[in-house]
Amino acid sequence: MTQTIKHDIADLSLADLGDKRIKWSAREMQVLHKIRERFSREKPFAGMRMLVCAHITAETANLAITLKEGGMEAYLIASNPLSTQDDVAAALVKIHGIPVFAKKGESGETYTKHIEIGLDSKPQIIMDDGSDVIATLLKERPSQVKDIIGCTEETTTGIVRLKAMENEGVLSFPAIAVNDSKTKHLFDNRYGTGQSTLDGVLRATNVLIAGKVAVVLGYGWCGKGIAMRAKGLGADVIVTEIDPVKALEAKMEGFRVMPIAEAAKEGDIFITVTGNRHVVDLEHFKNMKDGSLVCNSGHFNLELNLDALADISLSQDEVKPFVVEYKRDPAKTNKPGSIFVLGEGRLINLAAAEGHPSAVMDMSFANQALAVEFLVKNQDNLDNKLQTLPPQVDQEIAQLKLDSMGISIDLLSPEMLEYMNSWTVGT
Ligand code: ADE
Repeated sequence: MTQTIKHDIADLSLADLGDKRIKWSAREMQVLHKIRERFSREKPFAGMRMLVCAHITAETANLAITLKEGGMEAYLIASNPLSTQDDVAAALVKIHGIPVFAKKGESGETYTKHIEIGLDSKPQIIMDDGSDVIATLLKERPSQVKDIIGCTEETTTGIVRLKAMENEGVLSFPAIAVNDSKTKHLFDNRYGTGQSTLDGVLRATNVLIAGKVAVVLGYGWCGKGIAMRAKGLGADVIVTEIDPVKALEAKMEGFRVMPIAEAAKEGDIFITVTGNRHVVDLEHFKNMKDGSLVCNSGHFNLELNLDALADISLSQDEVKPFVVEYKRDPAKTNKPGSIFVLGEGRLINLAAAEGHPSAVMDMSFANQALAVEFLVKNQDNLDNKLQTLPPQVDQEIAQLKLDSMGISIDLLSPEMLEYMNSWTVGT
């Protein structure tokens, strides 16, 4: 099979290990499993082609297998140079017959080359994570746009970019904002990012969180999750925000709230999840304590201004995997000593750990699978706009998840239903 399956991966001999990992994660992905069974019977994608740009993990493998069961021919490429699980990539190619172009630690050049290979496969549907593929398509391959039925987008960051495309009038096919489904962001962004980010910090450093000051930059759903889990491990948590409502939420949740300029002087561990550029900048690096740990869990590696940190540093040494010591030049900084950057400022949860746990990716990828089906089934009726899946899809996924957890809930009685639908009954 490997002769005919196209690929550019690290090492095919890792396939058996990767397959065990895929099977392990499948145990926690019962909702996706149900969808896979249905796709297998109905073959909704028979003969279709798509490009999946995602973190190449065991969870993504289960999604790819589900799409294949539905008849889809999908090419997989990495959405981040550091997040690929090489054993999983090998299993997908060798055991599951799915073309993969992704290697952990691939260069920027290879990352871009893989996007080109993916687009050369002439996809009709694109599943993106960060919107790099869609941006490349619109900028560089206008002639291919007419073949696109639609796209789906996994992250907040990608959705911000798609919104900008829509506002500029260049979005020329329907785009499903998967992140905006409740069964995606309320679970994946909050509990997934919350747990896996701390997991990444711990696997990279093994520091004791209890008693440390953890600064969480950004209090969206990801920031909420990280702050909650850091507090649970005993950290004194400071939140920084630019949105007054979110800042107020953080304060009322019991966190300290202050500008990053002040937090920089107090923190022991800094974690960015703002989706914005250089939120930790030169002045902040100059004022951090010796030994500060700095990392990012936002989609792109631009939240930390690492060039500025390099400019005030005498040396950069990898002191252990995923930990680089920047020794600050005493002549250029207000505080002496070193700053340790984790995972090169890339998503720490996927660089140093294994990403979100399968149980939350189950719901995220159930949304992705159903979004692809939604695009295919409604292709003649959708506007070329950014849109969400219908709310019934959220209800269905949540119900299946509850079922898989053995949890039943109450039903509205006829009396309750009548009350809910009337306005005449008051005090
Ligand atoms: N994004 C965050 N965690 C992930 C995972 N485990 N698999 C795929 N994408 C992810």
